[in-house]
Amino acid sequence: MKSFWGAFCLLALAACSGGQDAKVDGLAADNWVTPGGDVGKSHYSTLADINRDNVNKLGLAWSADLGTNRGLEATPVVIDGVMYTSGVAGRAYAFDAATGREIWRYEPQVDMQVNRTACCDMVNRGVAVARGKVYVATLDGWMVALDAKTGKPVWRSDAVVDRSRGDNSTGAPEVAGDVVVIGNAGAEYDVRGYVSAFDLETGKLVWRFFTVPRDPKLGPQDHPDLEPALKTWDPDSRWDVGGGGTPWDAINYDPESGLVLVGTGNGGPYAVSRRSPKGGDNLYLGSIVALDAKTGRLKWHYQETPGDNWDYTSTQPMILTRMKVDGEERPVVLHAPKNGFLYVLDRRDGKLLRANALVRMNWANGVDMKTGRPNLTPESSDYTNGPKIVFPASPGARNWHPAAYDPETGLYIGTVQDMGNAIYMTPGRKPLARRMLNNDAALLFTSDLEAILPTLPPPLRDAIAARPEMKWVKENPASTELRAIDPLTGKTRWSRPMGGWQDRGGALATAGGLVFQGSIDGHLRAFDKASGKLLKEIDTGTAILAAPMTYKVGGTQYVAVMAAWGGGGFPYVPPYSAAYRRGNKGRVLVFRLDGGPVPLPPALPPLAVAPAPPRQAPGVTPQTIMQGMTLFFGNCALCHSNQPRSITPDLRRMSEGTHAAFKEIVLRGLLLPNGMPRWDDRLSEKDVDAIHAYLIDLQAKVRAEELEKQKRGLPLDAPGLTILSNY
Ligand code: HEC
Repeated sequence: MKSFWGAFCLLALAACSGGQDAKVDGLAADNWVTPGGDVGKSHYSTLADINRDNVNKLGLAWSADLGTNRGLEATPVVIDGVMYTSGVAGRAYAFDAATGREIWRYEPQVDMQVNRTACCDMVNRGVAVARGKVYVATLDGWMVALDAKTGKPVWRSDAVVDRSRGDNSTGAPEVAGDVVVIGNAGAEYDVRGYVSAFDLETGKLVWRFFTVPRDPKLGPQDHPDLEPALKTWDPDSRWDVGGGGTPWDAINYDPESGLVLVGTGNGGPYAVSRRSPKGGDNLYLGSIVALDAKTGRLKWHYQETPGDNWDYTSTQPMILTRMKVDGEERPVVLHAPKNGFLYVLDRRDGKLLRANALVRMNWANGVDMKTGRPNLTPESSDYTNGPKIVFPASPGARNWHPAAYDPETGLYIGTVQDMGNAIYMTPGRKPLARRMLNNDAALLFTSDLEAILPTLPPPLRDAIAARPEMKWVKENPASTELRAIDPLTGKTRWSRPMGGWQDRGGALATAGGLVFQGSIDGHLRAFDKASGKLLKEIDTGTAILAAPMTYKVGGTQYVAVMAAWGGGGFPYVPPYSAAYRRGNKGRVLVFRLDGGPVPLPPALPPLAVAPAPPRQAPGVTPQTIMQGMTLFFGNCALCHSNQPRSITPDLRRMSEGTHAAFKEIVLRGLLLPNGMPRWDDRLSEKDVDAIHAYLIDLQAKVRAEELEKQKRGLPLDAPGLTILSNY
């Protein structure tokens, strides 16, 4: 089978030979060799068999049910007729790309307790394929190499430095020369960020780069690049909660320079004055760091968000390409992180070429093109001295959902979200190690702010209502659009509104003149890439967040996408999503011209009135219920939004059997394999009784309300606020 991999090597030189002379220009054609399609990850294909003129004939070729109701975020890879992709918790799959026949599947033994510190669902963003192996990271932070033919593990290496902390891993690994690189996640808990590079053949750790320094009292830093970084932190920083900077998504190898570009995460805790009391830039938070692929040493860095205060990660996908800037042809990286700017940097040295604002923003007022620094505006955005409304919001102007770069039109095409947060400190909360969303800042999205305001305590309500940004909130609380943007000017060429802030599917652009994008309303859509005109939509009945991709096998072009609701805010299933109407049947969906209709998952039955809860145990008092509520919000609410149609159980609707098994489930891990952690290490039997008392009380109230609604013929589906991230 040498020729098989030989063919692949021609298309992806970097992945095969570590060839430092390889170029990023080899755009995707029949094969789609990385989750981003090509080495530069432009999510663009040169295939044009499916095009403007015939896309209306697109229909289903095959689909595969992955047996999960949790989020799917990966973009598959296709090499010579075989599709490789990943699913929840780092499962991996190989399919015959023409027929959908499953060739193998790999289901790692994952320590599901890790879900307690996985903020944003048990997702995985893809595989890397090279040298006859498929590389995937498991949710609990193991880097695994599988035999591409059989799916059998070849090696498995621990990518977590300290297993007593809240590390997890959700990104796609990146092959960089002779190593495969993976980052960690968990900045919301007590985690310090790093990327680890393992030998492709043996799995031996070759180097590791920490994105933030450690407590200087522990002695010298792990590597010399951290000594200058340390100067940008208060020596009395909250080292005990890690500092953050977790590089949980974008890692791009540039074979032309031999550099690995890594997007680093937000600070933990969020407020810089709580993290590093004397302030400072807190390098390398919110940055692109460029590392030598052979040694892991820092070659250049560009910090997009100095002294991050607002959960502005720079982990969003990067695109490596080439473009003419001010008359000069340059190798560039395009990057739109959460903070609202779209940057164009020279990828050889990190020189800033452009920084255009895509959305309303008030944490910074532009970027000084000489120094490369944003002009920070603490008077509008430092919330530690009183509530503020800060744009963009913590879910970011952009997030992990991949954008496409179309080399024909020079347009950057992806979802952009214009939304803000009301942010304030929550007195009495202190960041603690390994706790759910470890922050003492509360965030309210402006999408719902006017509805939430009246429910807040009057001083807080009035302070927020008095902010000048309320004008922005009243004009346009939030909007999410698919946009085609000129990266050199930041100007939008065309845009299409999306369903809401949760609806921001990844994009694919093709030489067939098309842009494909899925929506959580369950539709896959094809637009004319020149105008944004809708040319075709297919109802799949399943929410789509992941980016579509395309490939050709046996003379036929296919378009594939992974479909399922999930990711950040996963327990909050928006009423306009397909998951609300038809559940969340995680699938791979593959289309071709003259394909058939997509079999829709059956509609969920109408919501039934919550069943009667059992009687409270003797001795339960209002204090018990209050205590149970506090414990619930501190430990359980991350996953249980207690809303109807949530993809995790609505605990206000527990059956008699569930109530009877409550302690077995909560304390002793009866449902652990399905992602419901066990709590006997943190909660006593008495604590769990108190939580149960709170839920029984809640269920009784909900049942009474719903019986009343039923009597009056009102629907049981409450519109409900979307996410209220008042952690
Ligand atoms: C990391 C996410 C997560 C956290 C945190 C979490 N749960 Fe769960 N829980 C789940 C998932 C997922 C299920 C569904 C498991 C299944 O499908 O079998 C579940 C199921 C349950 C069930 C069974 C419900 C039913 O109707 O079948 C109970 C009871 C429960 N959880 C209670 C709790 C309590 C109490 C806490 C806090 C102490 C908690 N959970 C924290 C994810 C979580």
